[in-house]
Amino acid sequence: MTLCANLVLLFQPLVFILLGFCSESYTCTDTITATQFIKDPQTLLSNGTNFKLGFFSPANTTNRYVGILYNIPPTTAVWVANRDKPLNDSFGTVTISKDGNLVVLNRQKQIVWSSNVSDSTSNSSARLLDTGNLVLVDNNNGRTLWESFENPSDSFLQKMKISTSGNEAEIDLLTSWKSPSDPSIGRFSSGLDPQNIPQVFVWDNGKPYWRSGPWNGQTFIGVPSLDSVYLNGFSLVDDREGSVTLLYNYANDSTIIYIELDSEGDLIEKYWNHEVQDWEIGWSALEDECDVYGKCGPFGSCTYSQDLPICSCLKGFEQKDIGEWERGNWSGGCVRMRELKCERNGTVGEEGKEDGFLKLTTMKVPDFAEWSDAVEENCGKECFRNCSCLAYSFYSGIGCMQWSGTLIDTNKFLKSGGVDLYIRVAYSELSNMQLLSLSRCIYLSLEHAFNIDCKLS
Ligand SMILES: *[C@@H]1O[C@H](CO)[C@@H](O)[C@H](O)[C@H]1NC(C)=O
Ligand SMILES: *[C@@H]1O[C@H](CO)[C@@H](O)[C@H](O)[C@H]1NC(C)=O
Ligand SMILES: *[C@@H]1O[C@H](CO)[C@@H](O)[C@H](O)[C@H]1NC(C)=O
Ligand SMILES: *[C@@H]1O[C@H](CO)[C@@H](O)[C@H](O)[C@H]1NC(C)=O
Ligand SMILES: *[C@@H]1O[C@H](CO)[C@@H](O)[C@H](O)[C@H]1NC(C)=O
Ligand SMILES: *[C@@H]1O[C@H](CO)[C@@H](O)[C@H](O)[C@H]1NC(C)=O
Ligand SMILES: *[C@@H]1O[C@H](CO)[C@@H](O)[C@H](O)[C@H]1NC(C)=O
Ligand SMILES: *[C@@H]1O[C@H](CO)[C@@H](O)[C@H](O)[C@H]1NC(C)=O
Ligand SMILES: *[C@@H]1O[C@H](CO)[C@@H](O)[C@H](O)[C@H]1NC(C)=O
Repeated sequence: MTLCANLVLLFQPLVFILLGFCSESYTCTDTITATQFIKDPQTLLSNGTNFKLGFFSPANTTNRYVGILYNIPPTTAVWVANRDKPLNDSFGTVTISKDGNLVVLNRQKQIVWSSNVSDSTSNSSARLLDTGNLVLVDNNNGRTLWESFENPSDSFLQKMKISTSGNEAEIDLLTSWKSPSDPSIGRFSSGLDPQNIPQVFVWDNGKPYWRSGPWNGQTFIGVPSLDSVYLNGFSLVDDREGSVTLLYNYANDSTIIYIELDSEGDLIEKYWNHEVQDWEIGWSALEDECDVYGKCGPFGSCTYSQDLPICSCLKGFEQKDIGEWERGNWSGGCVRMRELKCERNGTVGEEGKEDGFLKLTTMKVPDFAEWSDAVEENCGKECFRNCSCLAYSFYSGIGCMQWSGTLIDTNKFLKSGGVDLYIRVAYSELSNMQLLSLSRCIYLSLEHAFNIDCKLS
């Protein structure tokens, strides 16, 4: 009693004054057992008072859900138990069932949600930690049976991990709510992609919707707004054997900050501004239309602009279907204008000259990068020698990236960020570039690489 009262006095003076006794609304413990359960509207408070577990109704509904909430004024649920089975009255209970599972019961004492761990014992308890993790432990041996951090809803909290072992079934996913008033599982999910260079994805019904770009050891290089964040909080462990783990741990513990996958498919980092007593946005994935995966189709490039069409073809490519492009449907993408020499098996003449690479600056690199252990000087040469290699990029922290097949989800950043991307084009494209374009290009021969400065001054 005293501990709880003291904590309430220290951190929640308002609540304390309003409610007087922690037993009315706050239980005096952070633990649920078979005999120590919570009933709507009771709330369990974590030891350091950062989080509470209890019943809530989202905006514009009277449905009741059990969730882990930030212990701040606006109801902010970071995890929901009975997402798909709301209670329609306020007679719900959260307790430990006879089989040792953490359960949510309705008025009729029917189970509407269960932690559902098959190896549960009859003596277990659930504790809400100050990190926001709700942990079910076996009291006989202290073993963790289940935890909310391993079963996330739509929020990625500090000290949470998301991992992939290359096996899609094992990827931990965030899943969006259906709408701001309906926590049931919506269209969008987010997690790490098990490709050979780790990237974060948002999927729309399983199809790519947003992509972070590759991890360079410090940040995801396709999200320029993350660069401006002094410490973005992310760290990633890649054992290069198919197991990748992403951690989120912002340096400042007193900052209330988390990442939410909202019901529109946007990943948003929100932090609590104590002064204005409201959430503010640190960064978000979908800042403009170009952030939507594959907006401009294969071999297209997206540049956000309010006046001009956002899509264009990569240099050396042209619209596959001009009619559709003019109607603003870019999804068909682009096709190569002039065949590469390496595809023509060495015809002679002007067209027999070697293919080259055009340098595109401040780019979000395409999806499906293949990693090569080539050093910087050899990255381009290695790509040049293999006709399947359509583009390459070298970036410190990642090394040599090469692309074959289709170049998709390529963006040109205007403001900042991005990397240099070299794309393979026929020699005649290089010549055209020299005559027509202001861009700088690179011509690469088998023996050595050298720059032709294409800039007309
Ligand atoms: C709660 O926190 C206090 C100090 O912060 C600590 O002394 C106490 O042991 C904690 N209680 C439990 C149940 O862990
Ligand atoms: C709740 O409903 C009001 C009125 O229809 C609407 O303005 C508001 O945006 C809704 N809030 C949410 C979170 O859906
Ligand atoms: C509430 O839900 C229970 C069972 O889930 C059902 O029996 C009852 O009719 C519902 N009440 C209303 C008012 O919908
Ligand atoms: C518990 O798990 C079993 C098997 O995995 C599943 O069929 C069942 O629907 C789950 N029950 C609940 C309440 O989630
Ligand atoms: C559950 O386990 C704890 C720790 O071993 C023990 O103190 C307690 O008596 C047990 N409760 C029951 C009901 O077996
Ligand atoms: C941590 O955040 C708090 C509140 O936002 C701020 O007052 C404090 O200076 C920060 N500490 C550090 C080391 O940045
Ligand atoms: C856009 O173009 C693609 C292929 O080019 C086509 O499959 C799709 O139906 C078009 N969408 C619309 C809305 O016209
Ligand atoms: C070039 O040669 C390869 C294999 O030697 C063959 O598969 C391909 O069809 C040839 N391409 C052309 C355009 O002749
Ligand atoms: C050329 O690149 C393709 C695609 O990356 C790869 O499958 C193939 O093994 C490479 N060929 C050689 C000779 O390295």
